[in-house]
Amino acid sequence: MIKVNVTEDIYYIGVNDRKTHLFENHIPLPQGISYNSYIIVDDKIALMDTVERSFVDEYLDNIKNSIGDRKVDYLVINHMEPDHTGAIKTIIKEYPDIIIVGNKKTFPLLQAYYYTGDNILEVKEGDELCLGKHTLQFHFTPMVHWPESMVSYEKTTGALFSADAFGSFGTLDGGIFDDEINLDFYEDEMLRYYSNIVGKYCGPTQKALKKLSGLDIKIIAPLHGPVWRSDLDYVISRYEKWSKYELDKGVLIVYGSMYGNTEKIAEAIARRLSERGIKNIRVYDASKTNPSYIIRDLWKYKGIMIGSVAYNNELFPPIKTLTSKIEGMGVKNHLLGIFGSFSWNGGGVKNLKKFAENIKWELVYDPVEEKGSLKGDKQFLVEEMANSMADKLHELYPED
Ligand code: FEO
Repeated sequence: MIKVNVTEDIYYIGVNDRKTHLFENHIPLPQGISYNSYIIVDDKIALMDTVERSFVDEYLDNIKNSIGDRKVDYLVINHMEPDHTGAIKTIIKEYPDIIIVGNKKTFPLLQAYYYTGDNILEVKEGDELCLGKHTLQFHFTPMVHWPESMVSYEKTTGALFSADAFGSFGTLDGGIFDDEINLDFYEDEMLRYYSNIVGKYCGPTQKALKKLSGLDIKIIAPLHGPVWRSDLDYVISRYEKWSKYELDKGVLIVYGSMYGNTEKIAEAIARRLSERGIKNIRVYDASKTNPSYIIRDLWKYKGIMIGSVAYNNELFPPIKTLTSKIEGMGVKNHLLGIFGSFSWNGGGVKNLKKFAENIKWELVYDPVEEKGSLKGDKQFLVEEMANSMADKLHELYPED
């Protein structure tokens, strides 16, 4: 049973999920994920969000371990997504008088998913709920990550219950707080979480950060990953950077290849970039690497090179999936190079050009497409494309 003091009267009562393979049924969880929940024990008792439904027994044990036979007075729903509301039906059954706290966008979703009762308290921006010594203040952060998303700021302790914001993939393996953990592991998993879950909403994230900058925050308690109490700047500065698309000098190369010809172009580009002094180069085969890792690296590097073999006059399917995801997310601020190969008819590069028009990234060089294996003049053009990418990056990042 987990009961960890966040402050004297606030407990962490979350659970770890090492069983689920795919988050939202499409994003791999090789290192699992935590569903964080908190309980504030005061004259009144408030639960801050719940957990995914498969963990409801363990979760109830955690609650009872914290408050014994006392009743829970409020359930604050900062975020309605089912990984945080899956235990609601059980909680309502266990505590039938519980009042559910949310905003006007929370309750239609709540009704659609679980509950049609009227034991609810609708809060507006800046409203406060006094529990005794503790007072929660509510601030709306729409689209970080759903329309109803909000955060709750506890005024006495400075604890911010931040919903998905500042969350991370990865279970909490003993350490719950930032100062108990080597954060190297979470660095990449936080970015994979941000880019894939919240990354479409960089604008709303910027607005949320601006709004929250007026609060005296001492603890950040998100719904996934570590609780931040020592180095808040570590996580806030990363959110600032990521939500502004502040990218590093480097190139992400991703290709779809059937018989190795498009792959060889990718290798030639990577080698030339390296010869030209680019130190951060990652090459991914889109058929093997899940898009969530490629999308994570989109938030790292300024340069992107995408290659596709033609497949039935179309993009190769894994590249089609990837480019469609990137377009849907409206990712901004990259330099782009495109390349590919074909056997009897094109389709890869032709459709990558459409992608380039839609995404509106700067093309560093004319697209290069080879029939069969890379040779002669096309090898020269591919290397020129890599040179052009390197030139632009050196110009943009003269110090790196
Ligand atoms: Fe962890 Fe948007 O849910």
